[in-house]
Amino acid sequence: MNIVVIGAQWGDEGKGKIVDYLAGDAQIIVRFSGGANAGHTIVLKDEQFALHLVPSGVLYPDKIVILGTGMVIDPEALHAELSMLESRGINWQGRVFISDRAHIVLPKYRQIDKEMEEKRNKPIGTTGRGIGIAYGLKAFRDGIRLADVFEDERLVNLDAEDRAFIAHWKDWLKQFPINLVDYLDKHRHAYVLFEGAQGALLDIDTGTYPFVSSGMSCAAGAAAQGGIGPRSIDKVLGVFKAYTTRVGNGPFPTEFNPENQGALEDYIRKTGREYGVTTGRPRRCGYLDLVALRYACRVNSIDTLVLTHLDVYDTLPSFEACIAYKIDGKLIEHFPSSIYELEHAEPVLRKFKGWECELKGRSSYDELPIEAKDYISFIEEYTETSIDMISIGYERNETIVRKSPWIR
Ligand code: IMO
Ligand code: MG
Repeated sequence: MNIVVIGAQWGDEGKGKIVDYLAGDAQIIVRFSGGANAGHTIVLKDEQFALHLVPSGVLYPDKIVILGTGMVIDPEALHAELSMLESRGINWQGRVFISDRAHIVLPKYRQIDKEMEEKRNKPIGTTGRGIGIAYGLKAFRDGIRLADVFEDERLVNLDAEDRAFIAHWKDWLKQFPINLVDYLDKHRHAYVLFEGAQGALLDIDTGTYPFVSSGMSCAAGAAAQGGIGPRSIDKVLGVFKAYTTRVGNGPFPTEFNPENQGALEDYIRKTGREYGVTTGRPRRCGYLDLVALRYACRVNSIDTLVLTHLDVYDTLPSFEACIAYKIDGKLIEHFPSSIYELEHAEPVLRKFKGWECELKGRSSYDELPIEAKDYISFIEEYTETSIDMISIGYERNETIVRKSPWIR
């Protein structure tokens, strides 16, 4: 069975925690997109792990984890991450593989990424990890894939510095390559989890272009870049937070206004730990944008939504969510492509009553306060999508499952 987990907002929805949770029942976890721009946090008892490249199933001792074809991989960053895991008692040898079609991030890409940002009159606010350069060169057909590292003829166009870098990592990289398509075909009866990075609104095609990342973070990416065909996807899960965050620049219709919502933003940032895992930047915060979420559901055929960070709202007497936009005086109920329209969209907000009590410790949907259930029902009706899992804390057991996605 093949389950795809993607972010349904602008990233940082809690994909890492959810993939880690679901990985308990999977045998193989394939991350299909992005690179070291991602930051997936997993909390295990008193320990916190921040993963950037390695799929979120790695903390289980027996799971196979694979970096998929759609990823762009900086060998230095991967080495650092695996060393960190090893130093903390996570034995990864022999169960981490990389699709030999995945692309390599060379050191100079980071520099070029920064230089291009400086030249933009409206910078994207990239993570500076060279991600856009790697995907750009891939599209230009001048990239280096893992398979190419072992074929000198593929490296002739590189300059001496790049060749030396590849030569340095070549032997270490020999332990990882697999033909992902063949591997997954051989394990066609396994339970496989496809882990997305970034989110639907950061996807190169479906996101708020040009304020996006450069990979496929949509569900279709799991097929194109995860080693299976689209008809082999059994289920798509979209992870979203009770509110919205965005890190980096670009339109964000429900972003809190610092003049009258500054205190609310500070509260959510502090309670939800809304600081970038990769860059440490404070994340921009705002109410849930249902127009954007419904768009994400449609464009990704999301079968079921996973609501995270619901506990962040525990103390609020009331809160709101955006159900439409007003753009130049007109009521708009779809998610526009135009950056002008998104930048000028005033959110039409619906008010919800808060529950004003702690959600921690509740283990079933029935135990949730009526106000939380009302919020959940409203989102389900608006998006026409069920919410089958709800996260109320960082720990694995702080997860309410109404219906396991592994049940067909
Ligand atoms: P996870 O997987 C949130 C954002 C950057 C920037 C834009 C382009 O942790 O959810 P890039 O370096 O990719 O060229 O930057 O995309 N971005 C993310 N924002 N979560 C992420 O990943 C992100 N990966 C990239 O902040 O706005
Ligand atoms: Mg992140």
